[in-house]
Amino acid sequence: RIAYVNGRYVPQREASVNVEDRGYQFGDGVYEVIHVHDGRFVDTGLHLARLARSLRELAIPKPMEDGALLVVLREVVRRNRIREGIVYMQVSRGVARRDHAFPRDVAPALVVTARHGKAFPREIDTWTGTAITAPDIRWGRVDIKTVNLLPNCLAKQKAREAGAYEAILIDRDGNVTEGSSTTVWAVDEDGVLRTRHLDHHILPGCTRAAVISLMEEAGIRFEERGLSEAELRAAREIFLTSATSYVKPMVRLDGVAVGEGTPGPVARRLFELFARHAD
Ligand code: PDD
Repeated sequence: RIAYVNGRYVPQREASVNVEDRGYQFGDGVYEVIHVHDGRFVDTGLHLARLARSLRELAIPKPMEDGALLVVLREVVRRNRIREGIVYMQVSRGVARRDHAFPRDVAPALVVTARHGKAFPREIDTWTGTAITAPDIRWGRVDIKTVNLLPNCLAKQKAREAGAYEAILIDRDGNVTEGSSTTVWAVDEDGVLRTRHLDHHILPGCTRAAVISLMEEAGIRFEERGLSEAELRAAREIFLTSATSYVKPMVRLDGVAVGEGTPGPVARRLFELFARHAD
């Protein structure tokens, strides 16, 4: 595997970052994951715009302009011969003697890697999973896609140990925020499709945005209105969206069947719309 590390394409095995990189020491960096399907990037514009926003919010300069970054992303995908998979990019504030405050005059560090994945699922019935709930113990600016993912890792590990795909996070007020690495959607008891509104407490998902555009084109109604934990447990359908989960139905929540325990009609429709969009 070949990685791009600060201006060079190197065998990933030999690639390394400086021990004083602030991404490593402080989690002072941001990242993006883009789905590669049939050798092409899905929702590139949305991901590059979110990366630019994350950098801006943290006052980290862009390592390069979007056009140049796209060239690097394409080159990493080409050199690794990825048809189906993901490309990962991470930008840290850079390398400096350890001091919490920002260093002066450092260049941001850019790393790009890519990885093969399974082909995009064609049948939603083979693309179901289960979820557990876990407390959302993250900080107050998770709308910035930083590499500070320890609470997300702890929640995902809890899911893994329970044999589940995802941990759906519940905040201190008893409301659903999002999954440990996914956006959460549900069809409530009254049949209304809902997902939480955007603010500082969830990541603005690119797949969320893409699915919303597809629904607007198709005239499918939804509400940007979050759910309480009780509403989630009473939901007819629960599904997740992300660059790597696409549209993924959760058929059990904490061991209890969601609806009929099979993918519901709304998830099915959106899965098909998204598959067509990604193709
Ligand atoms: N995760 N919420 C969180 C906390 C996420 O980490 C992600 C993405 C999403 C969905 O965002 P998008 O649709 O833009 O992928 C929501 C990526 C895939 C990851 O960390 O690997």
